[in-house]
Amino acid sequence: MKSLITGASGTAGSLTLQHLTERGLNAVGAGRAAAKDKFWVELDYARPGTFRKALHGVTHLFLVVPSGHKEPEQFQRFLDAALSFHVEHITFLSGRTTGDVKGRALNTVEEQVRHCGLPYTILRPGWFMQNFAADSLAIDIQAEGKIYLPAGAAKTAFVDVRDIAEVVEQTFLEKKHQGKTYELVSQEALDHYEVAALFSRTLRRPVEYIDLSPSDFLALMLGRGASEEGMASYIYLYDLVKTGKEARLSSDLARLLGREPGRFEGFIKDYLEVWKD
Ligand SMILES: NC(=O)c1ccc[n+]([C@@H]2O[C@H](COP(=O)([O-])OP(=O)(O)OC[C@H]3O[C@@H](n4cnc5c(N)ncnc54)[C@H](OP(=O)(O)O)[C@@H]3O)[C@@H](O)[C@H]2O)c1
Repeated sequence: MKSLITGASGTAGSLTLQHLTERGLNAVGAGRAAAKDKFWVELDYARPGTFRKALHGVTHLFLVVPSGHKEPEQFQRFLDAALSFHVEHITFLSGRTTGDVKGRALNTVEEQVRHCGLPYTILRPGWFMQNFAADSLAIDIQAEGKIYLPAGAAKTAFVDVRDIAEVVEQTFLEKKHQGKTYELVSQEALDHYEVAALFSRTLRRPVEYIDLSPSDFLALMLGRGASEEGMASYIYLYDLVKTGKEARLSSDLARLLGREPGRFEGFIKDYLEVWKD
């Protein structure tokens, strides 16, 4: 068995690669960076010339679409290559917010995976807890004690990405997950005021959620150098969150793990170093 973990420099891919490696599985990470050792291979969906080396000997593929990706036809080429290289199983990381929205990249790739001719499992995770440990969200919490988002008061069932990694392992090792689509969320739905309260209590200093209007959020992020297209896509996602779509709980993850999925407070305790004064 040889697993290829795409998006391995990103949040989900890196934690999945780490988990599989710790579990003693033969796993190789992939991304656009050149290979430095035998645990990494160069893969660029926009450059089919990189597919052959990346897929050589691979039996199990964890497929990650880069956030905000706009060219799903690139994945059709990659899936065709996976078929010709006799990959045995694909686990695709979709998402709850847009996995079922026609015309969005995650939905298009879900359909491509379902029809690619290979056994597959589709994972639809909720919003990652680890988003708060990266980029501007982490910096704002650490430096200012603020969470700036256009999320309104909508509740969200977040997921600890480490739990997703455990499920990826199961889908690679057990055939019973073939053809299944799972919703992966924790068993608590929190609004961002509640998230801020959890941070305040756990970090023992005030953390406040600032509910920004979409235009104020856009202005803040453009001022920080973010791209207008990227932020428009982000605001669209939060508009969907505000419909309450992400508040729904699911028992899939607890059933698969055989335990309660990670809670937000546990995530904060495990990542304390990120927001240290
Ligand atoms: N964040 C959330 O809350 C959330 C929730 C549900 C679903 N999702 C979905 O989960 C997926 C992964 O999210 P994430 O936050 O882990 O992603 P991410 O951190 O944005 O990572 C994206 C990865 O894609 C790689 N990449 C970018 N362009 C590439 C290309 N042309 N060819 C090959 N690799 C490329 C990047 O690696 P290099 O730049 O090193 O090449 C990076 O490793 C996304 O599809 C996202 O929509 C996210």
